[in-house]
Amino acid sequence: MFRDDLLKDKVILVTGGGSGLGQSMAKRFGELGAKLVLAGRRPDPLEETATAIREASPGAEVLTHPCDIRNPDQVDAMVATAVEKLGRVDHLVNNAAGNFLAQAEGLSAKGFDAVVRIVLHGTFHCTNAVGKHMIERGGGGSILSIVTTYAWTGSAFVLPSACAKAGVLAMTRSLAVEWGRYDIRCNAIAPGPFPTEGAWSALMPDPSMEEQHKKRIPSRRFGEHIELTNLASYLLAEESGYVNGECVTIDGGEWLMGGEFNHLTAMPSNVIDGVFGMMKARRDASRAKRRGEGESG
Ligand code: HXC
Ligand code: NAP
Repeated sequence: MFRDDLLKDKVILVTGGGSGLGQSMAKRFGELGAKLVLAGRRPDPLEETATAIREASPGAEVLTHPCDIRNPDQVDAMVATAVEKLGRVDHLVNNAAGNFLAQAEGLSAKGFDAVVRIVLHGTFHCTNAVGKHMIERGGGGSILSIVTTYAWTGSAFVLPSACAKAGVLAMTRSLAVEWGRYDIRCNAIAPGPFPTEGAWSALMPDPSMEEQHKKRIPSRRFGEHIELTNLASYLLAEESGYVNGECVTIDGGEWLMGGEFNHLTAMPSNVIDGVFGMMKARRDASRAKRRGEGESG
């Protein structure tokens, strides 16, 4: 679809670059000649991704930087290291996120914060740090944020995520105008469902629900990572230089059928509580297991 050198020597920072869609985007950008900075909290997935990119694209420069985007000092240090080692940052991809299914009335303040501090505050910290660098450097650049279609429709059972993604979309459009004069473009992608371990464990109550879910998508299938990574590559490339302040939906037409998780309101509240509670217990158990393995290893 693209020239092999579409993103040649562009320095691209991908948050959440060690897993899921962030990993797929980083790999695709590497194939198209980019130099990469991969950020996330866990070092191992970042290293594994960097190794895979170097193997697939010999000569590719990949810097990994464990960083919690909720912490502005860590974000500033990451951007400073990227600039020191790779000379500059041309593009930022705000991809890192957290999410879970919960009934709003049962959410604690900490539960709300847990998602909003990653998605909205973390995205602001990265955007602010990279934006300042781009403005000081004077060479322009672009910022691409991964939101969701419920950023504008809202959705039942993902209130913190919907609020935070709506904020990121507002940030994108606000800065597209404010930073246009610096030749910094700000765009977003709103994906529908693309299978990833992170999203599925947070949002798909049971594998048996996949087929039902597909029926609510006009294209009757989930997205393929290459479809999203090609869209992201286009939006970063110079060839899309006049696209600014745009949010491109890639969801097989899903959002036109209604808010992402609204259909679950058909179930009684106590059944929903049981299903979501089971999902939380499963996630807590797998996290405890990972921590246990980390300690013993
Ligand atoms: C209710 C929950 C909960 C759940 C956590 N909390 N999980 N409440 N239901 N399932 C509450 C806790 O009880 C606690 O509040 C507070 O949140 C903080 O919990 P921690 O476990 O300490 O949070 P933390 O370690 O900061 O982890 C953040 C996280 C976690 C978001 C909960 O899942 C995470 O780090 N996720 C990153 C990966 C991820 O989620 N990827 C999915 C992206 S998919 P109390 O009051 O009890 O102390 C995506 C797709 C969008 O975004 C669109 C799809 C179409
Ligand atoms: P994922 O694999 O769980 O990705 C989330 C990434 O964010 C992880 O790599 C995680 O790494 C990182 N992260 C979380 N908190 C962080 C923090 N505080 N600091 C730094 N990094 C952090 O899920 P995904 O499905 O690929 O989602 C990627 C993006 O696409 C998200 O913005 C999501 O909202 C969006 N999206 C996904 C879908 C879908 O169907 N998959 C649909 C719509 C939108 P660590 O845990 O190591 O920090």
